[in-house]
Amino acid sequence: MKRILITGAASGIGLATARLFHRNGWTLGLTDINHDALVELASELDQCWHRQLDVTDDIACRHACQEFAADSGGLDVLFNCAGILQMGHFEDISAEQHKRIIDINVTGLINMTLAAHPLLQDSNSAAVINMSSASALYGTPHFASYSASKFAVRALTEALDIEWGRQGIRVLDIMPPFVSTPMLTEASFRSPVVDRMGVNLDADDIARTVFQAATETAPVHNPVGGVFKLMTLSNKLLPSRATRLLMQFMSRE
Ligand code: NAI
Repeated sequence: MKRILITGAASGIGLATARLFHRNGWTLGLTDINHDALVELASELDQCWHRQLDVTDDIACRHACQEFAADSGGLDVLFNCAGILQMGHFEDISAEQHKRIIDINVTGLINMTLAAHPLLQDSNSAAVINMSSASALYGTPHFASYSASKFAVRALTEALDIEWGRQGIRVLDIMPPFVSTPMLTEASFRSPVVDRMGVNLDADDIARTVFQAATETAPVHNPVGGVFKLMTLSNKLLPSRATRLLMQFMSRE
């Protein structure tokens, strides 16, 4: 039975992914900073292994990985899903909040990936699946720090795909545009780009992409949704000025 450890498992994409892997017989490790929501999910999924975890705490990340592996006999897939978003005009977001976005979305992902490495080396089907975003295609207005954090996830994924590929560990990322989850629906500011691009995906769509990436051969970057796949293609074929113009048009207020 394969084993997956999920960060940010208690809501949205992480939660839908946990349910899908559970239905498919995987052994689950669920982690999230939100204790109550995590306990509720764990009781729904046969009291599977769960641990309250703040991914910015590197020591806690190490303990969580080791304890999950000890409990389940190892670790095959790490799904780095925990993340936060603060949409808004750059200058309206406090320095502290900008820093928190980078701390959770980038440093947190590094903490978990480092902690999981020795365990993944012992698996013969090891993979790290990172939640990047469509905002890692071109810097997105009203998402500046978030977008920067997802570019960092993209770079980490590309580098480790090559570095750890040599050790038999697959590393890839998922790049969806807007997904209907609490991250988006509960946001206090809504960028015009959200309504112009539309919110055409739900958490189950992304969970299916994660499952496919975990169980089949997958490329290093996995864009989701027809419109964004088209944007990715046009970004490759056209000069980057074209993507800039599109972004300028889509985000106008
Ligand atoms: P969500 O807000 O529904 O879930 C995020 C989860 O991360 C929550 O359960 C939250 O408690 C947890 N979390 C936050 N800070 C944490 C920390 N310090 N340590 C551990 N857990 C923490 O959001 P959603 O939409 O499910 O997002 C999941 C991932 O997908 C994020 O990385 C997000 O950036 C990414 N993503 C989301 C998109 C969207 O439109 N919703 C689009 C593209 C990517």
